[in-house]
Amino acid sequence: MPETTDLDASLAAAPWWRQAVVYQIYPRSFADANGDGLGDIPGILSRVDYLASLGIDAVWLSPFYPSELADGGYDVADYRDVDPRLGTLDDFDAMVQALHARGIKVVVDIVPNHTSDQHAWFQEALAAGRGSAARERYIFRDGDGEDGSLPPTDWVSVFGGSAWERVEDGQWYLHNFAKEQPDLNWDHPEVREDFLTTLRFWSDRGVDGFRIDVAHMLTKDLTEPLPSKDELALIPQDGNHPLIDRDDVHDIYAEWRRVFDSYDPPRTAVAEAWVHPSRIHLYASPESLGQAFNFDLLEADFDPDQFRRIVSDNLALAAQSGSSSTWVLSNHDVVRHATRYGLPAATRSNGWRPDEKHGASWLLSGGTEPELERERGLRRALAATLFILGLPGSTYVYQGEELGLHEVAEIPASERQDPTYFRTEGAEIGRDGCRVPLPWTASGSSFGFGDDGSHLPQPAWFAESAVDVEDADPSSPLNLYRRALRLRRELQGAEELAWQPTDSQDVLRFRRPGGWEIVTNFGESPYELGEGRVVLASTPVTGGMLPGEATAWLAP
Ligand code: NOJ
Repeated sequence: MPETTDLDASLAAAPWWRQAVVYQIYPRSFADANGDGLGDIPGILSRVDYLASLGIDAVWLSPFYPSELADGGYDVADYRDVDPRLGTLDDFDAMVQALHARGIKVVVDIVPNHTSDQHAWFQEALAAGRGSAARERYIFRDGDGEDGSLPPTDWVSVFGGSAWERVEDGQWYLHNFAKEQPDLNWDHPEVREDFLTTLRFWSDRGVDGFRIDVAHMLTKDLTEPLPSKDELALIPQDGNHPLIDRDDVHDIYAEWRRVFDSYDPPRTAVAEAWVHPSRIHLYASPESLGQAFNFDLLEADFDPDQFRRIVSDNLALAAQSGSSSTWVLSNHDVVRHATRYGLPAATRSNGWRPDEKHGASWLLSGGTEPELERERGLRRALAATLFILGLPGSTYVYQGEELGLHEVAEIPASERQDPTYFRTEGAEIGRDGCRVPLPWTASGSSFGFGDDGSHLPQPAWFAESAVDVEDADPSSPLNLYRRALRLRRELQGAEELAWQPTDSQDVLRFRRPGGWEIVTNFGESPYELGEGRVVLASTPVTGGMLPGEATAWLAP
């Protein structure tokens, strides 16, 4: 019998999320069981074997709640139900049960900054009129100008255009995102109480954790006179900014923490908080949400110096909060990383904004320009993926990246859905290209997504990356992910790494406790690996040479 060490004991006692691989499902684009063109909960249930075959620890479901889909479901009309087009609460329970039976945890998205304009509270606020108690749950103000016909301020919404919308009786309401997403007033006790009820509702149904949307914007100081857009931009984001990353938001999360910890095991949470790195630990601390996304790699080029700095900085930040770091290369808001790395000067998260350096011109052209190096992008993407899967901390994988999918550029204007595209009159291409329904089979209706089409058009080249094609090919991205996730369980140990010297500026090499080494060659020339047994590589290693733009894992 091998001896049990203190380290084994402390790892076994560590909460499940610290080093989990979490697979993000965008439900409307995952699998469509009822053939209406929209993915649904029974669709997810029908693919539980696939999810188990990946070797993931958890799934995170983007919103599946009733919604008018003004922002892909991030406009929630009822926080405690399933959109009838996506199924029922019974379907949800069946899905949770099936995932749990395969050892997969379930994380759901909570969207507390804003509701949908179809939410009962907002409808009540509209009907009740100015000065009513119902309007207090949102942020209504009178307009500017003699007749109040100008918005209260010149603030701009994250999706473009004014952050205020006028209602019939002449008042205006604040919406930091689309106009169909009115911001809630978090000073209101009913708002606070209602979200506690929602957290308990899903926790009671067996949900293991929550992803908190726009976690840094809930509380606001709207004392008059309100600053202008230019004045706002000059106010430091040090905890007292009127709109962003206020210290008092953590009073809310302290209350949420009490709910999370009242369950056994405690429910977890991860914050989507776009804040200064020096303040991220406030969200990741055990008194607050417990973990926070690190989005640095979404904004980085495929570059060894950037990768090394990001890893070192984020491990230090994780140590500061006592949480573990998170690693993310793709999600439903950014250009897929296979595509980012194949565009001229690899791109950033907001590659969908027009910015020549970052290749949005290729996206804006509908992918007709010869800018994208598809194979190179995929090669680099797989190298980056094996790099992050070797790191301590938890990794988030976005549906379809395990197939090596590229961004879909060729979506006609008439079929686009993202409010960003419309609110900027097409100047920003939006996020539809990473939200196109998955290809399950190389042929058949909507590549096996469902029986009757898909809500965003799938390109013909999806056939090459369909699950059935990749399943049968031992060298496919899908099978690489599966092998990596299986091996990762062996290499996981204490949340530490030690950088190793290399004789090439293009190469990063780190060692994990237990002696595993991860080597990534960011350059184009092959690199001699030296000692060590190669157990996994993103591009085949021959004669001990790691090819350019590749990662290898070496076992002790
Ligand atoms: C962040 C989400 O990830 C994004 O998809 C959404 O549009 C905004 N929050 C607004 O809810």
